[in-house]
Amino acid sequence: MTAPRRTLVRVLVGVLAVVLVLCCGGVAAGGWALARGGTDTVGEVDFVRPLAIPPLAASRVDERGRRVFDLLARDGRRDFRGDGRLTRTAGFDGDFLGPTLRARRGEQVVVNVVNRLAEETSVHWHGMHLPARMDGGPHQTIRPGATWSPTWTVNQPAATLWYHPHPHGETEEQVLRGLAGLFLVDDDREAALPLPRRYGVDDIPVIVQDRNFSRSGEFTRTRNMISSIGVLGDTLLVNGTVGPYLDVTTERVRLRLVNASTARLYDFGFADNRRFDLIGSDGGLLPRTARTDRVQLSPGERAEIVVTVRPGERAALRSTGPDLGAGALADRFAGGRDRFDVLQLRAADTLAPSPAVPDTLVPLDRFDPASAATTRRLEFTGRGINGRSMQMDRIDFAATKDTTEVWEVVNTDGTPHNFHVHDVQFQVLSVGGESPPPALTGWKDTVYLAPERPVRIALRFTDHSDPDVPYMYHCHLLWHEDSGMMGQFVVVEPGQSPGRPPARAGHGGHD
Ligand code: C2O
Ligand code: CU
Ligand code: CU
Repeated sequence: MTAPRRTLVRVLVGVLAVVLVLCCGGVAAGGWALARGGTDTVGEVDFVRPLAIPPLAASRVDERGRRVFDLLARDGRRDFRGDGRLTRTAGFDGDFLGPTLRARRGEQVVVNVVNRLAEETSVHWHGMHLPARMDGGPHQTIRPGATWSPTWTVNQPAATLWYHPHPHGETEEQVLRGLAGLFLVDDDREAALPLPRRYGVDDIPVIVQDRNFSRSGEFTRTRNMISSIGVLGDTLLVNGTVGPYLDVTTERVRLRLVNASTARLYDFGFADNRRFDLIGSDGGLLPRTARTDRVQLSPGERAEIVVTVRPGERAALRSTGPDLGAGALADRFAGGRDRFDVLQLRAADTLAPSPAVPDTLVPLDRFDPASAATTRRLEFTGRGINGRSMQMDRIDFAATKDTTEVWEVVNTDGTPHNFHVHDVQFQVLSVGGESPPPALTGWKDTVYLAPERPVRIALRFTDHSDPDVPYMYHCHLLWHEDSGMMGQFVVVEPGQSPGRPPARAGHGGHD
């Protein structure tokens, strides 16, 4: 061998040795990390604080017959764990979260949103069917000090909706700080059913969020770079309460479960695996009650369940590892194996009777996919949808008013994602080619996307059109949304062409 070649061999051997050492080290570290397991608070949570119930927002009816609410976004501080360490927070009308808005189908509502934060915000009505310029997305931002007063007529079935900020690129941070609340819609159909509906008594909001606290008590935002799904916390807040219990005084209690976390999925059930009645999903009651022992929710999703308790018992609501369908690495690093004690139900020794939950709930007319005007494919991968990242001045497509569309939404990049669309509630046609499970048989606005399991949905765009102001569709893992996994569509009249929205949000509202 000539000298230069010998040198080359030596160099190659050296490189190989380094690579080997790195690989083994990597495998060992990976193995260790996998073996270490995830977050597990089962049996470790002291249920010592009564569950906070967000107050119902006061409202008045103005001279035009509109129901008027006021909502003030502001910074705050809260001692979540009772140890004197204050966390910098934000909330509506308070330090953390916000009041529950409530309106009946058919009512016209006005919400005067005042921004007392030091930065721009917006308030989006998640799940609400309404005109795009009232939607509170990234185009309807409110400058500090300004007021925004959207108005619309509530026209959709009774449901558990929610509201939260949506300024482009800042949603995760603002929701994490505490800006979120519920919007309950009531209607005659729901009111005619024998269901628990006394707010705070046997009809209970359960807003679940995960947080990490620093030594000094601040929320921390460290993201796990292996899972790349965003911030996963090791402490649960339910309606802002750490270690919550609920005194139950009736045989049955309705829980409105809301996953208001920024990235985490939950698989809710009870410690004793009791069965409960699943009665509702994102957009309202299901056609039929489903008896089950688990309900899985990805960020943004809601479920209504009715739980039966026995006198004097304590029943713990738990979350066990959600089925992410994304492999062992995701199970370890994206929360697929994490377990949490969520909320303790403390049944009184004597319980007031509650009627049995009916099997049949509300009728649902199925959209006929064969009549779809358009079929679209939305592929979630990397930092975008269909290879494009969100751009404020680009309309991705236009849907025509009063038409039905079929969208095939697919996650092709191995990381957990989910799909949320504004303006309408959709029907799930299939998941991975199979007919949807009971939890996906009603109205939905958000659905989990396991890698390589296409979700086919049918949607119908009614009532509102506007060629210039877009609605959003996006991943509701908020870090993904903020990083550009979002797109914009407009609803147009037949034959109308889409306009062009501004690159920057117009400062909606006035001083
Ligand atoms: Cu709950 Cu576009 O968001
Ligand atoms: Cu939304
Ligand atoms: Cu995502």
